[in-house]
Amino acid sequence: MEQTSLASDADRVAAAEPTGQVLVDIDHISTTFGQGDSEFSVHEDLSLQVRRGEIMTIVGGSGTGKTVLLRHILGLTKPSKGVVRIDGVPANELPTEGASARMGMLFQHGALFSAFNVLDNVAFALHEQDSLPDDVVRDAAIVKLQMVGLKPEHAYRMPSDLSGGMIKRVALARALIMDPPLLLLDEPTAGLDPRGSDEFCELLLEVHQELGLTVVMVTHDLDTLYALSTRVAVLAEKKVIVVGPPKEVIQFKHPFIEQFFLGERGLRALEPAPVAKDLASMG
Ligand SMILES: Nc1ncnc2c1ncn2[C@@H]1O[C@H](COP(=O)(O)OP(=O)(O)OP(=O)(O)O)[C@@H](O)[C@H]1O
Ligand SMILES: [Mg+2]
Repeated sequence: MEQTSLASDADRVAAAEPTGQVLVDIDHISTTFGQGDSEFSVHEDLSLQVRRGEIMTIVGGSGTGKTVLLRHILGLTKPSKGVVRIDGVPANELPTEGASARMGMLFQHGALFSAFNVLDNVAFALHEQDSLPDDVVRDAAIVKLQMVGLKPEHAYRMPSDLSGGMIKRVALARALIMDPPLLLLDEPTAGLDPRGSDEFCELLLEVHQELGLTVVMVTHDLDTLYALSTRVAVLAEKKVIVVGPPKEVIQFKHPFIEQFFLGERGLRALEPAPVAKDLASMG
């Protein structure tokens, strides 16, 4: 017991700074779905390495297999060829038991369990373990709620009584309840208004720093991408066509990159916020 906690503390210290050590190794994978005439491939010979401590953002057109990639990392699905390793071990060979202590996931359509209150949603993985007294579980969940900026009095609300931003926060607290070193985010700011989105990005930056997390994120939102990414991987033509810091990736010549980063939406994300411009023009 003692040793496990020492090892995970050492992991955390290592994760606080990008060290260049690979935590997630997506090694020459191919993914196909369907059979016979209806068979189609989503990934072909795709590789990507995520280093400890970084925030790796995956972008690509709709249907290019970003969510499928996260599911492979979670070990929920297995590529048809190649392997995804987490800390050297094939993801699909890791035991289901203890999965939420290895990685947390914020799902794309990340709903909470609507029949459970906030506390029971956050404490879900702890309840499943069935080994801790109720008051310890409750206290642990409340600590996580406070970490994501919610108050203890929110603990007994039902999901239907929460704003979109609060639901994201609860889902984040739930993903982090077992203190996993790796966090997967599928469109974390989708559905939030610009202010809610900025606030959630700030929270993600804080927990990334404080907990020394490694993050793999999928997003369509350029503001989120620029606010959070250490590196960006672009999925096109069934593989990762380029990976690097945002400033380098936008230089890469490819129609998807030009349209995504340098289209109207992309240029707007690079501009100063409208308020700042208005104030400047007022002298
Ligand atoms: N279990 C499955 N069985 C069959 N096809 C699947 C399965 N899961 C995903 N697909 C298909 O694989 C492709 C990639 O899906 P995926 O959800 O990863 O796309 P995405 O890049 O996340 O898109 P979006 O940006 O719209 O979320 C799609 O054509 C999808 O229909
Ligand atoms: Mg998706």
